[in-house]
Parts: sequence; C-alpha cells; structure tokens
Amino acid sequence: MSATDTSEPNRRDFLYVATGMAGVVGAAAVAWPFIDQMRPDASTLAASSVEVDVSSVTPGMSLTVKWRGKPVFIRNRTPEEIKAAQDVALGDLKDGNARNANLTADATATDLDRSAGKEKENWLVMVGVCTHLGCVPLGQQGDFGGWFCPCHGSHYDTAGRIRKGPAPENLHIPTFQFISDTTIRIG
Ligand code: FES
Repeated sequence: MSATDTSEPNRRDFLYVATGMAGVVGAAAVAWPFIDQMRPDASTLAASSVEVDVSSVTPGMSLTVKWRGKPVFIRNRTPEEIKAAQDVALGDLKDGNARNANLTADATATDLDRSAGKEKENWLVMVGVCTHLGCVPLGQQGDFGGWFCPCHGSHYDTAGRIRKGPAPENLHIPTFQFISDTTIRIG
C-alpha cells in the first residue's frame, strides 16, 4: 500500500469528525439498535441518549440531529414565532395535548408546555416525524410558518402543533433536558 493509500482514509476520518457533534451523534444513534441486541447493559442505556451542543444555534436557526434512528428538530425560535404560538386559543387546536414526554400525559398544548419551559420557551425540541404517515416535515413552511409535511399536506405551527391537514397529532416531544446553558441531552 502506498503512502497515498494510507493517508486518504485518515484525511476522510478527520473530515468526518470535523463535521461536528451532530454528525458524530448521528452515527452513535444509528449504531444503537445493533449494540442493543448484542450487549444490553449500561453502555446501551448511555448510547440511547445524545448530547447536542446548541451554542451556535441563534434565534431563527434550527438543527436536526438523529436520535434512535429518527430526526429530532431543535429550533431556537424568534420572539415573533413564540408570540404567534402563544396567541392561539387552545380551542383552535386540532390536538389539544402537549405530546410532551417530559410532562404528564394530560398536559395541554400551550406554547409553554410545547417548549423547553420557563426561561427556555424559545427552544423547541421535537421528533421530526409527521404524525400522519411518518414523512419528515420541512421547517419554516406552510400556512402557519412552522413545519409543512409535503407528503399529504399537513401544516404545523411555530410550536409544532398540527393545524391543518390529515396528521392527527402534534409533533411529538422526546424526553430531553438542558444539562448546561448550551447543551441539550435528548433521551
Ligand atoms: S405523512 Fe405527513 S401529511 Fe401524510
């Protein structure tokens, strides 16, 4: 093997790592089901959660990470997006349940209970899978400025709540927590 052959994979490895935490986390999440089958011990539990650095996600920006094989949308909402969601009466919602794994099952879909909570209401963390038939919705699109699923036309608002179209439920919120000001642990 020549020097060129050996240096190329190294450079590629480096670039892979350099793509950032989300990429590395994605690989770990994909590997999880396999590890689970082979060795269901404490290391499996650790791998079932991912930590995401959101320090570079400023208001109006989003990040998508892979967790347990699914996309998870992390959005730092603008004040306008938060206000738009707060201004919606609960009675106008198609699904009045928060669908938030961090709250009790009967929590209602107020903007606060859809978000990361007080002081962090700007943050939305949601499984990016349409509750109709599982497509991945597109961000900041649709009639309500939130997410739009082009498969059959479901419109979600800026709190990820279903407002129009065939999807029956709000986008689901996974178990997550801020473990520092700039790091979210999902799972
Ligand atoms: S899968 Fe999203 S609208 Fe059907």
